[in-house]
Amino acid sequence: MNHLRRIKKSHHLRELSSSSSLNAKKFIQPLFIVEDLKEREAIDGMSGVYRESESSLYKQIESDMNSGVDQFLLFTVPKKKSDTEFSSSFYNKAISGIKKNFPDIFLWLDTCLCSVTTHGHCGHLDSDGTIHNEKSVKRLSNLALLFAESGADGIAPSDMMDGRVASHRNILDSNGFNQIPIMSYSTKFKSNFYGPFRDAAESTPSFGDRSTYQLDVRDRESAIAASVRDEKEGADFLMLKPGMTSIDLILPIREKTNLPLGAYQVSGEYASVELLAKNGFLKREEGLVETWNVFRRAGVSFLISYAAREAKRLFI
Ligand code: PBG
Repeated sequence: MNHLRRIKKSHHLRELSSSSSLNAKKFIQPLFIVEDLKEREAIDGMSGVYRESESSLYKQIESDMNSGVDQFLLFTVPKKKSDTEFSSSFYNKAISGIKKNFPDIFLWLDTCLCSVTTHGHCGHLDSDGTIHNEKSVKRLSNLALLFAESGADGIAPSDMMDGRVASHRNILDSNGFNQIPIMSYSTKFKSNFYGPFRDAAESTPSFGDRSTYQLDVRDRESAIAASVRDEKEGADFLMLKPGMTSIDLILPIREKTNLPLGAYQVSGEYASVELLAKNGFLKREEGLVETWNVFRRAGVSFLISYAAREAKRLFI
């Protein structure tokens, strides 16, 4: 099976791929699961979004499904940080547990090392202090396979190493997972708008920043080339991030690629709306819908938003 059959596999993927304009069925809700958490914890700046325990997550998914959401992007936060190993039993239990309880949802797994490593960078750190591309890709692909073996429906690589999409496709295909789609964070910038997320995912780099692997906002050509490359490497879905500050790139990327292109309304963007609303500067729901209308106008095929669970109520 390859791309054109893969994206028809489920009604969820057909929604994301359809050329109709942005609507509530095209929203994906991010979720966080934290190993060994006893009670769920609020995330600063993002009301209604939590670091979840296994049991609180099940309740949240149930309530989200009642609100009309059936696609999720899961961030896994292991307790023990390691630069060589994975908390396989945590991933396995978390992912298979969700799918067992909610077989009808589509569960994307964010695939990155920043919540895993001792240093919070998205890849493998060499002794000279640089992120080694090939070692990173190898480890990330092993994580993608572990997610697939645990029951993930889709893989969403967010690390921005070179060659990770091809490597993930290869390891999935050669282990009997050729039906699993890859939604690549294909045009992902180094950004100041990921702040609330990093607290939630325990992924703040302990030194430096991510500018040696994430895109530079000043570099338009590389930003477009990165999505073009991921299509060539075998991605099934492309994505821009942060959404609002990449809005000008949606059309140029669509012109140069033939894959469904989504955007991620990231934590800092969501928190901005929340903060303005808290201070009485805008009406929260109207502010959110305005941003979604802009994404629709700009031509995205799908949207990842922390307020996805409100889309059915507020949006077409
Ligand atoms: C992991 C990852 C990040 C986000 C999604 N996956 C953080 C980062 O790259 O530093 C950001 C999501 C958000 O801010 O909502 N690499």
